Amino acid sequence: MHACDVARVQGLGAGKVMVAMKRVAIEGLVDPIDVQTHKRLLDVLVAAGTPVLMACGGKGLCATCHVYVQAGAEHLSPRTPREQLALRMLSDKRPSSRLACQAKVSGDGVIVGLPGGRYLTATKDLESLVGRRAEERVLHPVDGRVLIEAGKIITRSRIRELSQVDVDLAEMRTRSLSMG
Ligand code: FES
Repeated sequence: MHACDVARVQGLGAGKVMVAMKRVAIEGLVDPIDVQTHKRLLDVLVAAGTPVLMACGGKGLCATCHVYVQAGAEHLSPRTPREQLALRMLSDKRPSSRLACQAKVSGDGVIVGLPGGRYLTATKDLESLVGRRAEERVLHPVDGRVLIEAGKIITRSRIRELSQVDVDLAEMRTRSLSMG
């Protein structure tokens, strides 16, 4: 076990199990997060309270857990075939892109950044914003492309144009259920 692990072993009381931890930092977050060795980056995002949509329930089928790995990529498990496929759909993919639900943490020093914007969960979520400017960009829930740029007025006709998003989301959920 690495010396850093010993310093962050949890639950050493009677009857407790020793758990090795790894430290991950999220850009913009002051405190790093400790996660059990071989846990997913997604567990780090959830523990940090980031608004990750996880539209496919962590099965590597959507892009809503997309992150950029700024450092420590060598301390993550290699990309799975399913991840490689899902990443291909992303419009804002970079060489550092990973799906947090597929990447497992094996060492300290991983730093991740989150793509800017919020993922749309259903077009009806935009109804209350009709006539207002989008405060941040709105992203497609499956492929991560930008649907509405920050600062643009959200109109009812624009929401109608986006109705395919609900279909895409429903299809992806069905696919995710059938893949178990
Ligand atoms: S939660 Fe869907 S790909 Fe990670």
